[in-house]
Amino acid sequence: MNFKNELLKILSDITNLGQENFLLEIPPENVNADFALPCFKLAKIFKKAPNLIALQIAQKISDVEFIAQVNVEGAYINFVLNKEIFAREIISQVLEKKDDFFKSDIGNGKNIVLDYSSPNIAKPFHVGHLRSTVIGNALYNIFSCLGYKCVSVNHLGDWGTQFGKLITAYKNWGNESDVKNKEIKELMKLYVKFHDEVQKNPALNDVARSWFVKMQDGDEQALKLWKWFNDISMEEFQKVYDRLGIKFDYYTGESFYNDKMQAVVDELKEKDLLVESDGAMIVDLENYKMPPCLILRRDGGTLYPTRDIAAAIYRKEKFDFDKCIYVTALDQKLHFEQWFKVVELMGYDWAKNLVHVPFGLVSLDSGKLSTRSGHVVLMEDLLDEAVAKTKQIINEKNFELENKDEIANIVGIGAVVFNDLYNSRIKDVTFSWDKILNFDGETGPYIQYTYVRTCSVLKKAGKTNKNEINYEILTDEASMNIIKLINLFAEKIIDAAEKFEPYIVSRHLMNIAHAFNKFYHDNYILNAPEQVKNARLNLTLCVNLVLKFGLELIGLKVTDVM
Ligand code: ARG
Repeated sequence: MNFKNELLKILSDITNLGQENFLLEIPPENVNADFALPCFKLAKIFKKAPNLIALQIAQKISDVEFIAQVNVEGAYINFVLNKEIFAREIISQVLEKKDDFFKSDIGNGKNIVLDYSSPNIAKPFHVGHLRSTVIGNALYNIFSCLGYKCVSVNHLGDWGTQFGKLITAYKNWGNESDVKNKEIKELMKLYVKFHDEVQKNPALNDVARSWFVKMQDGDEQALKLWKWFNDISMEEFQKVYDRLGIKFDYYTGESFYNDKMQAVVDELKEKDLLVESDGAMIVDLENYKMPPCLILRRDGGTLYPTRDIAAAIYRKEKFDFDKCIYVTALDQKLHFEQWFKVVELMGYDWAKNLVHVPFGLVSLDSGKLSTRSGHVVLMEDLLDEAVAKTKQIINEKNFELENKDEIANIVGIGAVVFNDLYNSRIKDVTFSWDKILNFDGETGPYIQYTYVRTCSVLKKAGKTNKNEINYEILTDEASMNIIKLINLFAEKIIDAAEKFEPYIVSRHLMNIAHAFNKFYHDNYILNAPEQVKNARLNLTLCVNLVLKFGLELIGLKVTDVM
């Protein structure tokens, strides 16, 4: 039974109005009710004062078993559900359906392409890419759980003039054995070196550009070096993905579109969208109050937007997406607005289904990160540090624990991931070890620890009997709070998808964890009389289910002990 739907049916029956006229709300905490119906809209329909309408409707609702009270407060009708029936419905359904209780099929098999992570070859995988990875992965899981068919694409930055720069640097100051030994660190060093040297000798830029043009023309030597640098970087990225437990359906980076760009340029020409400016080819966007979108450089080299347009057209053909979602830092906002507009001007009505999902900056205690200054925090190192610090905490708290390393990995990395998902995307995130690893704070480890607590209670209990639950026992405030939150979770997941905001899921999980911990502190579970114990254990089992499902949904792993 879905209480909201049942209530809507009743309201619709007694008024002879369609269900869409009843905007049932969840009232704020200080109102003692489970649902509230504001009657302003109905007042317009019936041409009567809202408080009068509220009274009239309320009077007609009688003898509904699952409704314990109907109260009118001004223009609102407040509904209080019968607690026992509510508890029975929710708990029995969760125990029966398990994860399916939280899933839905509103996606109806529609295709969604998600473009996220997308680090740049031979540059560091930095905290911004981590954020894109983590948010993108959470959205992938969230949409999948709503019945969408998701495709994840890693649009690697593996093409462009930066490779010309790298090849130039390698030719001038690098050598094979250093690159072989030091891999990504050596590539980054060379990249930094190029930027230092070019200050003194700007002509190096031309050399770099010519190497890139060679790459585009299929020059064997240039492509061999490019491929080598690529493999080195990919190995580094793969380590990070493995540790996060993230896989992509496609690793089709910018280079993948090299042979698909001429067609785009031709099409733009044909549609009269391309104009020359200073030798370069652009799409003028002045009418839309935006700077022009650069399509071809003066030397014929393609650009980041060109590749994005080619990729979008390719993806539309290949996946027939209902939405194509791009998760990047906010500073790329204009880039997406520009080329989305170009796609629209090309006459593709699906341009409206391209969505940029931006996020705020991440700053570390140690300051901002940049490749050029050489001040670089490698993701590998950051994750290592998270795990090492977590292990230290575990050593202090629970030295006896087995599998300490594995658990430290789950918790340490979980802490980093959760930190990226706990606030509205657009907010800047500061990264502080003390904050993210605080087991008592609003952190990933706190929820993971709550999960461990449910596991340990359930393990000690041995077995639960779900057929003989006395639901009256679960009508106290602490239990009801948990049950209500569990009931709301499915709606929160939908809300998170609609807003592209994983934090809605994270916050809700936090609320459930808080509610459970309060319940746990206030009540005996294992030492309670048999009937009470059984009811509370089943509630604990539901929390156990929802926390595991929810944490995995946002990309964290769980452990049974900690
Ligand atoms: N490689 C880019 C960067 O690091 C992000 C790419 C995002 N995806 C896209 N289709 N433009 O900034």
